[in-house]
Amino acid sequence: MRLTFLGHSAWLVEGSKKVVIDPFITGNPQAQIGVEDLYDVDYIVVTHGHSDHLGDTYDIARHSGATVISNYEISLYLFSKGIQNVHSMHIGGKYIFSDGIGFKLTPALHGSAIIDGKDVIYGGNPVGVIVFMDDRAIYHAGDTGLTMDMKLLADELIDVALLPIGGNYTMDVKDAAKAASFIKPKLAIPMHYNTFPVIEAEPEEFVKEAKRLGINAQVVAPGQSVEI
Ligand code: NI
Ligand code: MN
Repeated sequence: MRLTFLGHSAWLVEGSKKVVIDPFITGNPQAQIGVEDLYDVDYIVVTHGHSDHLGDTYDIARHSGATVISNYEISLYLFSKGIQNVHSMHIGGKYIFSDGIGFKLTPALHGSAIIDGKDVIYGGNPVGVIVFMDDRAIYHAGDTGLTMDMKLLADELIDVALLPIGGNYTMDVKDAAKAASFIKPKLAIPMHYNTFPVIEAEPEEFVKEAKRLGINAQVVAPGQSVEI
């Protein structure tokens, strides 16, 4: 399986199916690909309504026909915008599709408002997600602060944990390393940093701190992939 960092919090997970998580490409200064490169995905996961996560979901869903996974409120919003293939879930829920690909939504401490022109739309509770594919479990934390609930994720036998480290809106380096120690993934990778000045962080510091706590971690630069 291959995980490609598309920059910010956007990840492409490629195994027997293609899953893109939080596809913020347009306006993402770290993006190395075009939106059209994602028109062949099978699933799109949206962790919350903020524009740097909802991103190009509408465009990609329209062109790919991919199934969009998100909470009930964002699902309703997308459906109202003409996206038919939405699969609504909520925190704590797990669903396995007929092709064997599974998703479980997890708690995130954050917000989820959707900005639509001049309107602010209620986007429900923000989530993290575990993607189950090809006997692997990939955890994408979305945007979140550190929470004790992350200790429950250790039972999910996470292979890779994708964790925000940029601070201000989410965990910083130190809190993200602590989160990794709660989750106990085989590999932790930092995200959601250095996209904007307010979330500047040093990813190598995260790797160092995670390793100090006994967790294997590595930096994956925007545009780069890791094979697991
Ligand atoms: Ni956010
Ligand atoms: Mn964000």
